Amino acid sequence: MDLPLKKTFMPEKKPIIIANWKMKLGIGESKKLALELKHGIFGKKEVVICPAFVSLVEVAQILKNNHLKLGAQDCFWEVEGAFTGEVSARHLAEIGCQYVILGHSERRQHLGETDEMVHQKVRMALSVGLTPIICVGETFEQRQEGAKDYILIQQTTKALQGAVVKQNQKVIIAYEPVWVIGSGQAVSPAEASGAHQVIWQTLFDFFPSELVKNNFSVIYGGSVDSENVSKFTGLDNCAGVLVGSASLVAKEFIEIVKNS
Ligand code: PGA
Repeated sequence: MDLPLKKTFMPEKKPIIIANWKMKLGIGESKKLALELKHGIFGKKEVVICPAFVSLVEVAQILKNNHLKLGAQDCFWEVEGAFTGEVSARHLAEIGCQYVILGHSERRQHLGETDEMVHQKVRMALSVGLTPIICVGETFEQRQEGAKDYILIQQTTKALQGAVVKQNQKVIIAYEPVWVIGSGQAVSPAEASGAHQVIWQTLFDFFPSELVKNNFSVIYGGSVDSENVSKFTGLDNCAGVLVGSASLVAKEFIEIVKNS
């Protein structure tokens, strides 16, 4: 299938580099790392820092008026109400978040997050003006069974079917093969490219092509580091990377941004 990929429309987009700090840093550590990144990352790339909820307000202060952007790692699907322990997308926007990671495999795996929940969260994020970073990807077993493309199509479709994406809104899909997350061993760029092709095709099937070209980005995540990042960002159909472990060390993450 012939898709209009980077050669025709992606060059205008800046590389997107997203740091997912997961539940790995406390407030003090998060502030320290945010400061180091603020003083070490320059240029025009779209760099998004996603600390844990408890650190968001403090990190927001550090990144205020800075070119580094702030993202959350999840949000709830209702805007507010009696939902003890949940976090409102509107409140995230209020403290300066512009992005939110949704449907990360760790949430799907450990917290029973379903495609339907991801879908509701995507709608909510879009409705309050947050850019959703929707994680999709197959497990090792699904890959062995030959179900990878099916899973990518299912997860992408279910997250987005019926969602309203306005002209001024962005949506990022992160292809994250579950089995390489945190393993230190990324998939080959060719394999990532093939998966991205499937995701792009799914998007073109559901949304007007101009909207897909202008408003959607597909990025890769899973054991990205400063050595391998350029192999992914150099792909025609890859707009950036989502980084876990390697985003926790300032020097390494700064290097990733430089090499992307
Ligand atoms: P990793 O994590 O870079 O440590 O593999 C990526 C992610 O979970 O988003």
